[in-house]
Amino acid sequence: CGIVGIVGQEPVAGRLVDALRRLEYRGYDSAGVATIHDGRLDRRRAEGKLFNLEKKLDEEPLPGIIGIAHTRWATHGVPNVTNAHPHFVDGVAVVHNGIIENFSELKDELVSDGAVFKSQTDTEVVAHLLAKYRREGMSQRQAMLAMLNRVAGAYALVVIFQDDPNTIMAARFGPPLAIGHGRGEMFLGSDAIALAPFTTEITYLVDGDCAIMTRNGVEIIDYDGEPLVRKSQISQAAAFMVDKGNHRHFMEKEIYEQPEIISHALGHYIDFASHTVKPNQSDIDFGAVSGLAISACGTAYLSGLVGKYWFERYARLPVEIDVASEFRYRELPLSPSQAALFISQSGETADTLASLRYCKEQGLKIGAVVNVKESTIARESDAIFPILAGPEIGVASTKAFTCQLAVLAALAIGAGRARGTVTAADEKAMVKHLAEMPRIMSRVLNEIQPQVEALSRELSRFKDVLYLGRGTSYPLALEGALKLKEISYIHAEGYAAGELKHGPIALIDENMPVIVIAPHDRFFEKTISNMQEVAARGGRIIFITDEAGAAASKLPTMATITLPNVDEIISPMIYSLPIQLLAYHTAVFMGTDVDQPRNLAKSVTVE
Ligand code: G6P
Repeated sequence: CGIVGIVGQEPVAGRLVDALRRLEYRGYDSAGVATIHDGRLDRRRAEGKLFNLEKKLDEEPLPGIIGIAHTRWATHGVPNVTNAHPHFVDGVAVVHNGIIENFSELKDELVSDGAVFKSQTDTEVVAHLLAKYRREGMSQRQAMLAMLNRVAGAYALVVIFQDDPNTIMAARFGPPLAIGHGRGEMFLGSDAIALAPFTTEITYLVDGDCAIMTRNGVEIIDYDGEPLVRKSQISQAAAFMVDKGNHRHFMEKEIYEQPEIISHALGHYIDFASHTVKPNQSDIDFGAVSGLAISACGTAYLSGLVGKYWFERYARLPVEIDVASEFRYRELPLSPSQAALFISQSGETADTLASLRYCKEQGLKIGAVVNVKESTIARESDAIFPILAGPEIGVASTKAFTCQLAVLAALAIGAGRARGTVTAADEKAMVKHLAEMPRIMSRVLNEIQPQVEALSRELSRFKDVLYLGRGTSYPLALEGALKLKEISYIHAEGYAAGELKHGPIALIDENMPVIVIAPHDRFFEKTISNMQEVAARGGRIIFITDEAGAAASKLPTMATITLPNVDEIISPMIYSLPIQLLAYHTAVFMGTDVDQPRNLAKSVTVE
């Protein structure tokens, strides 16, 4: 979910909606805005995209110079108007991102006290609690602190009280909240990008902070009411204000900007002149660690999986990797001699953050491979390895994935050098390939586009698709399947090619295309055998390979996408391109909402 609030000098509804638009990537199944005007709370809410809320506001404008707003990704209760935020109870308005874990216990208590709930959300308990405390005679501030001492879980909460049209109160425990300082006006939002048009001076709240914000500034206190000092900083978010340019979707734009962005990211890690990895000046000594633990979610997890192959092969470092939602609860035995890497575009994913904290407790040094340098995951890490991808707006990750890969490749080579498992000559050769990669990516994007678009039209007619790969092409198979299902809603699965015969082979027929990702590398022959098994059962094959691979295979295919021959170290980045374009164009043919696919959210700050 995304949150904004403004205590301003002029009407705020328009600006609140503008800010919500920049947060829409965080959730988009309903939206709402509330203000105080003429001494009372008022609100507009709408199901679905922000556009519906804007229509409502056009029909019924909302005056008021103080207000809060929300774009929702449903957790408790279906996405409809009643469950949309802000929630009102007796002169209290609340928006919330996160989950109130003890909500049913609180609800039972409030209901037995006579409270009547209107929605199915967990958020409504917060409004009821606050209203109850006010009725009992507490001030707004006392009520806020009393409420914060009752609720448990993960939340960013923002509250206005009808009888105080000069103050917004907020609290953070988990999902991020940023305070923006204006002149005679104050702002708050889920991230600095939302606030970029209003101000660049930002104060980030940390867990356990309660903010009391008026037109003149912000006071930050803990849940006992004791004052806290939080410095403000100048945010770079304004420089990143984004639009689609000439592209139909953000996803398309983000696919096409990869060559440029990846070259910028690489510049941070490698020296293009000497073809060496720049010295690692972080707190993590890869030369001395005994192993690595890697954890992440979604696409970031899959880049970590490629990273595992690299760290093991080039740096001879054993890697333990798992999705963060499992990792955090596995009670994995770890030793302080190991280091841990957490990969996250947003730097806010709740499960990834919890895994980080688990490793921290075990005494490991923590590295963050993140896009958002000011994020919680970055702030709680010993070493930040930025991926420098710029804001990624499309919910399906593309450029963040390839930038994560580029950074992990550089880190693995650097680790290999530090451990003496990569020679100076090997380093030079691999870094040279990395340096050439942006140029090859540009070429590939241009060359394969027409073929992939035509193929996508065919693919859009199928209901199921299987992706196969070996080695680092295995995580790519998983990523291909993830990308396709996320945005086209076609059921897709990724498998290690060698596992085909242990299950998925039972599904092979002419109705399930099999996309085989097989550069002409040391696994090629093996993968071809698996392709043969598919062909023998009447399966249709989409073969993604290189010139050498296309020449070596005689098997009939539904299509062969031929990429240039490239070195193994860059093949995951290069092979990401056909996979992304295939998912993108298929989704466009299916007519889905490519940038904001149903039920998904870009940043998942709940468990
Ligand atoms: C969500 C997004 C994915 C992303 C994952 C992890 O599921 O839709 O695109 O890969 O979260 O997000 P993170 O910000 O931690 O990389």
